[in-house]
Amino acid sequence: MAYTPLRINTVKPNRELTFDLFIFFKEQYIIYANKGGEIEQEKFSKLKKQKIAKFYIDEEDEMNYQQFLDALLMETMNSETATTEEKVNLVEGACGTAVERMQTDPGSETSYKMTENAAKSLRQCILQNPDALKEIFGKEVQEGDHIIKHSLNVSALATKLADKMGQKEEQLDQMAIAGLLHDIGVMQMDEQVRELFKKDKKDLTPENRLAYGAHVKDCISVLNDKPYVDKATMDLITNHEEVKSGQGPNKKTKLSESECILSLVNIYDKMCITTDLTPKEVIKEILIEELGNFELDLLNKFKVVLKEEGLLDI
Ligand SMILES: [Fe+2]
Ligand SMILES: [Fe+2]
Repeated sequence: MAYTPLRINTVKPNRELTFDLFIFFKEQYIIYANKGGEIEQEKFSKLKKQKIAKFYIDEEDEMNYQQFLDALLMETMNSETATTEEKVNLVEGACGTAVERMQTDPGSETSYKMTENAAKSLRQCILQNPDALKEIFGKEVQEGDHIIKHSLNVSALATKLADKMGQKEEQLDQMAIAGLLHDIGVMQMDEQVRELFKKDKKDLTPENRLAYGAHVKDCISVLNDKPYVDKATMDLITNHEEVKSGQGPNKKTKLSESECILSLVNIYDKMCITTDLTPKEVIKEILIEELGNFELDLLNKFKVVLKEEGLLDI
């Protein structure tokens, strides 16, 4: 039997399961709950306390799981009684599961569709719930989850900024997808190059920059010929490291508004991760260092969004 991982946050307790659920324990897959059954709240809380973050399903149950998750997302995002925390947990689980699967198999259409659905829910969640962004950014990163957490942060914040800039729903969805997938190329690189993700960009040698910059190309080669990936989303992913001065890996100097948004938010979150600076210090430095790389209006609106969303006090 082949097993596929899914985040525990995408399964709700006290809800009928449409698939068999496994956990990986002591080097083996053990059945945890059966199709048709439910997980009790108490058992579920215990798993989370034990820091078990993943369940597994038999590959043959994939479609059943997708339908289960789509229904749960729809219901929770539109619910008037679900708290922001519940909404964020679910959407984080859905995005994390989708990105993790795309990292392992970037050519999988099912995983791409899953990313699209997760991105839509993320857009809805952050635009409709005032505290959602703060909740997302305030979450602790689990070991080995740095790129996934970064992808979720960038996706959520870039979508919010795009909304502030007056972009349409279709553009917001493209932004949310691109944000989730922009760095999947990093996982395709050698371990040595992958480690550069955690380094402050100021500490990178020219060779480091060149090697790391290749992660935008690796991703393109896998997604480029896929008919289900639209061009606007593809362009965003390809150009997410570009800046107006032409110092990005593709040396582009003419960027669309959406490309500038994604690139700016990527720089911001990357600096928060790789330096000891507080968010307030990061935005201060960006307003000085990146002045020639982005329009002043965009930089100012970005600062306003960070303030309004409470992200500077985390
Ligand atoms: Fe990147
Ligand atoms: Fe990134």
